[in-house]
Amino acid sequence: MAPRILFGFSLIRRRFKDSCSSLFFFVPTCLSFTTCVLIMFYINSTSKILEIHPNQTHLQLKPPVQFSSSITIIKINFSSAVGGGGSLEPPPAEDGQTSRLQILVNGSDSGGLILPEPAPKAIENYEEDETPEDQNQLPKEILQQGNEGNNVDNLDVYNDRPLFEQEYKEMNKSLKIFVYPHKQNDPFANVLLPSVKDIPGGNYASESYFKKALFKSHFITKNPLEADLFYLPFSIASLRNDKRVGVGGIKTFIRNYIRDISKNFPFWNRTGGADHFYVACHSVGRSAMEKAIEVKLNAIQVVCSSSYFLPGYIAHKDASIPQIWPRKGSPPIREPSKRKKLAFYAGAMNSRVREFLVQEWKNDTEISVHQSRLKTPYSESLLGSKFCIHAKGFEVNTARIGDALYYGCVPVILADYYDLPFADILNWNSFSVVMSTMDIPILKKILSHEINNPDYLRLQNNVMEVQKHFQWHDVPIDYDAFYMVMFELWLRRSHMRLVIS
Ligand SMILES: *[C@@H]1O[C@H](CO)[C@@H](O)[C@H](O)[C@H]1NC(C)=O
Ligand SMILES: *[C@@H]1O[C@H](CO)[C@@H](O)[C@H](O)[C@H]1NC(C)=O
Ligand SMILES: *[C@@H]1O[C@H](CO)[C@@H](O)[C@H](O)[C@H]1NC(C)=O
Ligand SMILES: *[C@@H]1O[C@H](CO)[C@@H](O)[C@H](O)[C@H]1NC(C)=O
Ligand SMILES: *[C@@H]1O[C@H](CO)[C@@H](O)[C@H](O)[C@H]1NC(C)=O
Ligand SMILES: *[C@@H]1O[C@H](CO)[C@@H](O)[C@H](O)[C@H]1NC(C)=O
Repeated sequence: MAPRILFGFSLIRRRFKDSCSSLFFFVPTCLSFTTCVLIMFYINSTSKILEIHPNQTHLQLKPPVQFSSSITIIKINFSSAVGGGGSLEPPPAEDGQTSRLQILVNGSDSGGLILPEPAPKAIENYEEDETPEDQNQLPKEILQQGNEGNNVDNLDVYNDRPLFEQEYKEMNKSLKIFVYPHKQNDPFANVLLPSVKDIPGGNYASESYFKKALFKSHFITKNPLEADLFYLPFSIASLRNDKRVGVGGIKTFIRNYIRDISKNFPFWNRTGGADHFYVACHSVGRSAMEKAIEVKLNAIQVVCSSSYFLPGYIAHKDASIPQIWPRKGSPPIREPSKRKKLAFYAGAMNSRVREFLVQEWKNDTEISVHQSRLKTPYSESLLGSKFCIHAKGFEVNTARIGDALYYGCVPVILADYYDLPFADILNWNSFSVVMSTMDIPILKKILSHEINNPDYLRLQNNVMEVQKHFQWHDVPIDYDAFYMVMFELWLRRSHMRLVIS
């Protein structure tokens, strides 16, 4: 009996043990599953953390200074506009609950107030349902092009030639810039005023050329009331070379400079710097604004190192200018048929892209890549090649695109995330080959098979047409690099003064 009972007992125990272990398995699993579901539900129902808080938008504005007599003020009620992802555009007015956009115009009733014209939009961005109100005033060909809204097959060097030509004239006539005044005997005159004697040279010449040209140009106004934009005249390159400042002192210098102008003039506080700009070509400019964060967030940064991968540069708000090695005289001409090499590259190995490029193509007979400068003249290599490769180094920008264009060589751009210079105006696909760096192994296939001879001739012809936009002159000439920068600024001008309630 006893063993039987014992047997029965141990059977029960085993069964109990089995169900126990399965319990030990199921209960925690169920618990963790339920917890997961609850957590998901909680996140979902309180997902306000994902919304952009008004404090996080880029506009960090100070109370306005009552200053100008005819200012357009747009009041945005943020408490109701926040649902739109922090966008300044009011959500569509479907019901009474949407935000209220209030425009207060203060001007004399005699029509003394000239309402700002809307900044031109690139035609390719037009949607059929957002046609501008004043469309009727635009020439017919613009309307037709605009309504097509298709830029894919555009073979022209401009994104929109008629619009560019019309706006250029308007810009040339009416754009006004106020430069913060500094005296010749200012201890930092070398940084704040254009240098009188030196001819701009070297890799960062674009910065000094711009400043020289601006000071002599008809865009300057002495009357800040009629200015569209305000120029911050500090030179990053000069600060870097100045022993009193140096690379380490630039950030503090800029912070103090902004503090001084915002104390002594009312213009900075009026917009939080949104109608101010500076121009820099050296890449230290990017970190120079770290102690003056408003410059980075609000002002228009016109820079050579325009990589939208890096946080210092904000695409669309900021603008890209070309790095150009200055050359005197008109560019030499070499016919496409006399260009024997397929492609050319030479430069220091300071990036993975360059190493990859050289590794892949160093043995090739048609593509000539070199790890350093050549014995033969650089100009001869550029003149003797169909394509000239611009490969990103430390920065996305180098002077190579300007070099290629000057020598009539079609640039091949291997620099991911490069916001290309004047891309608001120029159709880069019409005069260059923009490639992903991952496509380096198929470089030859693209250049010799996918681009046939008629395609090449068109590209090369367009290179000759855009050359003028990539040249600086001591006295600026219409459509040269200086005027192109002015046009980029014109696209970014703002007539609106914002008040956030
Ligand atoms: C937003 O910023 C203002 C001023 O900087 C501050 O007073 C306010 O508490 C902030 N609000 C939140 C919710 O952080
Ligand atoms: C409009 O501007 C004039 C100065 O031109 C000023 O006297 C007047 O108070 C302003 N009106 C408003 C509503 O701000
Ligand atoms: C902003 O909008 C909210 C709700 O839409 C409203 O209650 C509030 O009065 C508005 N504030 C201003 C300053 O207009
Ligand atoms: C731009 O303005 C300058 C100076 O007024 C003038 O010489 C030039 O011809 C103008 N260019 C165009 C295209 O209107
Ligand atoms: C602008 O704002 C700064 C900081 O808020 C302040 O110190 C300065 O006095 C203001 N400038 C003017 C002209 O009001
Ligand atoms: C280039 O040539 C060298 C030696 O002639 C060879 O070792 C190397 O593998 C070649 N590289 C490529 C990418 O073909």
